[in-house]
Amino acid sequence: MTEQQTWSQRFESALHPAIARFNASINFDIQLIEYDLTGSQAHAKMLAHTGIISQAEGEQLVAGLEQIRQEYRQGKFHPGIEAEDVHFAVERRLVEIVGDLGKKLHTARSRNDQVGTDTRLYLRDQIQQIRNQLREFQLVLLDIAEQHVETLIPGYTHLQRAQPLSLAHHLLAYFHMAQRDWERLADVSRRVNISPLGCGALAGTTFPIDRHYTAQLLDFEGVYANSLDGVSDRDFAIEFLCAASLIMVHLSRLSEEVILWASEEFRFVTLKDSCATGSSIMPQKKNPDVPELVRGKTGRVFGHLQAMLVMMKGLPLAYNKDLQEDKEGLFDSVNTVKACLQAMTILLQEGLEFRKARLEQAVTEDFSNATDVADYLAARGVPFREAYNLVGKVVKTSIAAGKLLKDLSLEEWKQLHPAFAADIYEAISPRQVVAARNSYGGTGFAQVRQALVAARAQITAE
Ligand code: ARG
Repeated sequence: MTEQQTWSQRFESALHPAIARFNASINFDIQLIEYDLTGSQAHAKMLAHTGIISQAEGEQLVAGLEQIRQEYRQGKFHPGIEAEDVHFAVERRLVEIVGDLGKKLHTARSRNDQVGTDTRLYLRDQIQQIRNQLREFQLVLLDIAEQHVETLIPGYTHLQRAQPLSLAHHLLAYFHMAQRDWERLADVSRRVNISPLGCGALAGTTFPIDRHYTAQLLDFEGVYANSLDGVSDRDFAIEFLCAASLIMVHLSRLSEEVILWASEEFRFVTLKDSCATGSSIMPQKKNPDVPELVRGKTGRVFGHLQAMLVMMKGLPLAYNKDLQEDKEGLFDSVNTVKACLQAMTILLQEGLEFRKARLEQAVTEDFSNATDVADYLAARGVPFREAYNLVGKVVKTSIAAGKLLKDLSLEEWKQLHPAFAADIYEAISPRQVVAARNSYGGTGFAQVRQALVAARAQITAE
């Protein structure tokens, strides 16, 4: 222990230095300092408001805390390991600034409700930032989609050519995933935004505090109804990690597609130099490092979710030091999601070029119009299953003959079934195949145009 004793007089000797380092969280919870200061200012105001300390004392504490904020912002506040954590670091500095009065700040409070408050304020802020980033990501997706309503792209199931799509429709799928992420975070935020301040160490406090007052000052929507729950609940962080994991799932799936599309095998997109990297040995290489990193970083966020679940599952009520382990994974997840969203947004915005001619050609070189032949017959009274079997046979003989469906003569079509007429060629042209899927939510151009309008309206309305 340095000049100022952290613990009560019960302790006679200082911590072993290695144990002090092991115990300390200052290296990472310093990231909470702005929230800690804001939370402490609210607490000080409440102490004055309720008469637990005088108005003048309250004002001095608030001003002292504000000074620490300025010192921190100017890069002048560097608490060391001896402070243990951000809460002690702030309190110590406050005592240096305002003198013994600083020792009154912790009246009717514990680090347990304090750290819970800080973490919630931090996460509330970060969630808002991530939601804004999701909006930017969605806007870029929409901008690109609007340029590519008429661009066709092979659609896959099982990574086998299935049915051609409007590229806009494909991109809009990611828009909707991001929309759910955006909504999910809003929902998580409702439970992040509950104040544990005033729960004390675990049982409340003997002082006549006003928890609703601090909650209001800090813009919390409510207060925890049970003090034990308030200090030991980390559901809100787990929920955030679930939501963050799903964001990463979505980004990772898009990444995987971009990586495939950029390959020589697909050649659907060209990577622009601003977002691609080279190889140190193979001069011809242009690598999709951005989506690969996003895909790779996804595992970290899943890992943090798992770690938090396991950390929580055996904890008896109420606070246990295990809970200090909630922070690094949470911070890393927040930083990872933000970095990945930013990188993917930039990649979409300026790092990718869809190769229209290649895409146009790609949808003509396969049997992805086979369903439309079956639909053609089914629309003319042939039971679908019968039509399906018939077309299966045609596909088989065409493959054997080295032909595509469009290469069959009208004669051949009519031999297969008398219902075929000259309009079969139009019906199986890729553009018509896409246009015809005009069911609600389908890839038909008319549907996609409506979907684009609805999507834009959705994000501008909120
Ligand atoms: N650094 C601690 C944490 O992050 C603060 C709370 C400590 N509380 C306690 N009872 N030791 O969880």
